[in-house]
Amino acid sequence: MALEQLWAGWRDAYVNEATEVERSGIDDACVFCAIAESGPPSPDNGMVWRGDLTFAVLNAYPYASGHLLVLPLRHISGLEELTGEESSELWATTQAAVRALTGAYTPDGLNIGANLGRAAGAGIPRHLHLHVVPRWSGDTNFMTSVAGVRVIPETLPGAWEKVTAAWPAEPLGPHVRDEQSFDSAYDGRPPWDIGRPQAAFVRLSDAGAITGRVLDAGCGTGEHALLAAGRGLDATGIDSSPKAIALAERKAAARGLGARFVVWDALRLVELGARFDTVLDCGLFHVFDDDARSRYVESLAGVLPPGGRYFMLCFSDRQPGDWGPRRVSEQELRAAFDTGWVIDSIEPSTLETNLVQPGVDAWLMSATRSDDQKA
Ligand SMILES: C[S@@+](CC[C@H](N)C(=O)[O-])C[C@H]1O[C@@H](n2cnc3c(N)ncnc32)[C@H](O)[C@@H]1O
Ligand SMILES: [Zn+2]
Repeated sequence: MALEQLWAGWRDAYVNEATEVERSGIDDACVFCAIAESGPPSPDNGMVWRGDLTFAVLNAYPYASGHLLVLPLRHISGLEELTGEESSELWATTQAAVRALTGAYTPDGLNIGANLGRAAGAGIPRHLHLHVVPRWSGDTNFMTSVAGVRVIPETLPGAWEKVTAAWPAEPLGPHVRDEQSFDSAYDGRPPWDIGRPQAAFVRLSDAGAITGRVLDAGCGTGEHALLAAGRGLDATGIDSSPKAIALAERKAAARGLGARFVVWDALRLVELGARFDTVLDCGLFHVFDDDARSRYVESLAGVLPPGGRYFMLCFSDRQPGDWGPRRVSEQELRAAFDTGWVIDSIEPSTLETNLVQPGVDAWLMSATRSDDQKA
């Protein structure tokens, strides 16, 4: 009986409405396909995570706070129609949903399930979806089916903030990521994208170290360029990921800041045709392999005239584990910048991430371009 009651609860207004629309034949558009086609996760579409094959979205008429639906991007109705890849991503997304809801709401338990076919209670039987619903001992699930009343002490945008903040970041493999995988990382919430500037860079800015024309190299969604722009500096952010740059532009517009963002390869900075007084690098240097590393340092020197400053935060070799980017030693930093640069300082610091609190062990390096090209 408990089961029947529970599943009846999922036939909520949202689903029933869609069913009516479908039955009436007035509009045969699929509400889930519409969400799938509405772009990256946002509070507007309610999507909290988007992968290559599946996504997770807040139920617009939740049966409990944080009620999520996990579903394939592809419009299929049967579980048996999932490909092997869809199936494994669907399950991984469901696991991530459980972790996110557990982190965001600390429920006493969760229900996971699917209604396959209308006879089983599915409101939108045409597009396969799994429900993930947080539950509390003595919660009010019976009210929906018994009294038609729901007690949800939270708004959907509030739930979206909570769930996306708690969504587990995908641990990166030990491999160096290629441009494509960086770009697709921005479909979701990459572990490094903390939604604010790194504290280490805020301190540099407070100390007056960031001046003049500022380049944020490998800017991601632009927090450091926006930090500079917000302090009245001429700021440019470049990143090879078009998705990151689009997100950065949206942030700049939303915050009314005049930073400029360009899809560009950090190994070809000279071709930008611009010069800078300060270059900020948060998490770019450490993505490069040995060969790209030396090309990058050369590329930097091409846009930073003598006297220009370079501030960089990277994973340090004191950080345990081999997930994420490569670890960098102080010695490697000195070797990489041994010609044409004066290293002002290399200090132990913290790189804040969405993965571990307060962050990972990092080096904060400050260097000044010198005109001495000799070793
Ligand atoms: C670890 S993320 C850091 C992003 C950003 N600085 C931040 O703090 O959130 C590294 C960034 O470098 C970008 N990237 C990787 N290779 C690049 C290249 N050759 N040129 C420009 N950007 C690159 C990636 O797309 C990604 O956004
Ligand atoms: Zn659909």
